[in-house]
Amino acid sequence: MTAGSYMSSRNARKRCSLRHRETRSSPCLSRREVSCMGDETLIRRQSKRRTLSALGGVAKLQRFSPIHYLHRRYRAWGFLLNGPTIIQEAYDKAGSKPFEVLAPDARYIFVTTPEHVKEIDSAETELSLYYASRQILQPQYTMHHFGWFDRPLEGVGFVRALRVHLTNRIPSLLPGMREMVKERFAELQMRNPVVGGVTHTPLVKTIIKTVVLLEAHAIFGPELAQNEEFLENAVLYIEQLALCAEIIRACPEWMAPFLGRLIGRWHTAQRFIFESLMPIVTRRCQEREMASRGESVPKHDDCIQWLLDSATSKVQRTPKGVAHELMAIWFAALHPISVTIIYALEDLCLHPECIQPIRDEIHAQYSDFESTTQGLPLLDSFIKESARLSPVESQSVRRRAIAPFTLSDGTKLSVGDWACTPVTSMMQDGRYYPSPLQFSGFRFAPPEVVASIGVDAYLASPRQEKPSKLIEGDQTFYMWGVGKQSCPGKFYASALAKVVISHLVDEYDIKLVDPTAPRWWTWRTTRVPNEETMAIFTPRQR
Ligand code: HEM
Repeated sequence: MTAGSYMSSRNARKRCSLRHRETRSSPCLSRREVSCMGDETLIRRQSKRRTLSALGGVAKLQRFSPIHYLHRRYRAWGFLLNGPTIIQEAYDKAGSKPFEVLAPDARYIFVTTPEHVKEIDSAETELSLYYASRQILQPQYTMHHFGWFDRPLEGVGFVRALRVHLTNRIPSLLPGMREMVKERFAELQMRNPVVGGVTHTPLVKTIIKTVVLLEAHAIFGPELAQNEEFLENAVLYIEQLALCAEIIRACPEWMAPFLGRLIGRWHTAQRFIFESLMPIVTRRCQEREMASRGESVPKHDDCIQWLLDSATSKVQRTPKGVAHELMAIWFAALHPISVTIIYALEDLCLHPECIQPIRDEIHAQYSDFESTTQGLPLLDSFIKESARLSPVESQSVRRRAIAPFTLSDGTKLSVGDWACTPVTSMMQDGRYYPSPLQFSGFRFAPPEVVASIGVDAYLASPRQEKPSKLIEGDQTFYMWGVGKQSCPGKFYASALAKVVISHLVDEYDIKLVDPTAPRWWTWRTTRVPNEETMAIFTPRQR
């Protein structure tokens, strides 16, 4: 079935106008070439021509310098291992101007001023998160043949499912979540190795296995969340997806179909997840049909149902469409929040002076938080400070150019280039954050809350002029992206982090086995937590 036959007429028009736009703005392509191509092929061709023009333009190929070219490729490949440092160096040199960083498969233009961020966020027909995500995920090979473009141009349905339905559901999810953390963590601890009479907890694996259970409940529903084999594959799916997509991205584009099919066979978890989802989603679709005929059907309140209720196109209402959306959401959901919690727990061990005020706050306010999702400002600030200094990502507000675009200062993006923000560099910039590299757990908390701790040292440590919450972004804090394409799961993510950390801090004394060990390694723009990190969780005596 073709993509076009699925699309609503509005989206068909939108895509059509995009194609025309690309055609008009690409003098290098003949009419015949364009008429034979899909959107993606068109972008690839333009991208190749852009590479030539970046080297001096097709007309100026005589000036092509092999040394210059090799130097650029060397820098681009170096980005994979050294991304955050390369971005930081370029940021320091650029002042507030846009700057270029090369990766093997893209040219990134980083912007920093609020005006430029607004420009890239508003350029919806030229710059697309949807296309950037497709490049990151390679869903046709890593998500069981997900036809990314078979659905509306921007995935309105799943955004609504998360931003509206999941967020509204948080108060009813919260009370059961702490109990789940308690049981899961205790069960995992029993399986962890004992060294010299003390249980050594592999922090990364244990937190991921805890978070996976909570998120599976909200996203896949209770039936699959109780299936241990499914949960194991849900973690494996993320790991295999990330690896496969990276291999495909690192190779020349003409190899992608062949390589993708080959690697796809090894990526067994995608099949497992898809095949586990299909019977459940198919049943839900049947129930929806029955309900439309007035028959009585069970009520469900999970992401499968919200996706069906929020779908804006026919393809998103099919069992396959829903299963694919779930697989995409799952990738976005599991990794960043697990890693944020891991780094926050490590930071608690490295800054033990913050633990007692946070414990006192949990004692005083946790039940209110559970019923209202509000409160716990010290813990909230601590997580935000940890995310500021140990962010998962060094790049945010990612948009891939699907048509040429020029920023107001004249910086040009060709088709295939990316616009984005250097989120880490901005969050650690002394112009916006006093003593930017100093960890100050209560930096973002309201002054009266910090004063109520009654210890002057907390008041004296660096603090922001204006308090803010973890879920609040601003012109210097792009952890959640920006505007209407900012993270639709951020309220849930923030609540989940608080539940997990509150339980562990309240019930255990935590310390790292080796506080000096490296906490992460980097790949492209991501900080990947060190799987070797061991922690000791000692149950607290009360
Ligand atoms: C600490 C945890 C998280 C962080 C830091 C985070 C960050 C982000 C960012 C920065 C974006 C926008 C991409 C961009 O503009 O570059 C995004 C998008 C997204 N996030 Fe999150 N996220 C987190 C947790 C979650 C969770 C728990 C869910 C689901 C329950 C989720 C679902 C999504 C989805 C589906 C998108 C894509 C939205 C779209 O395509 O319009 N995220 N996230």
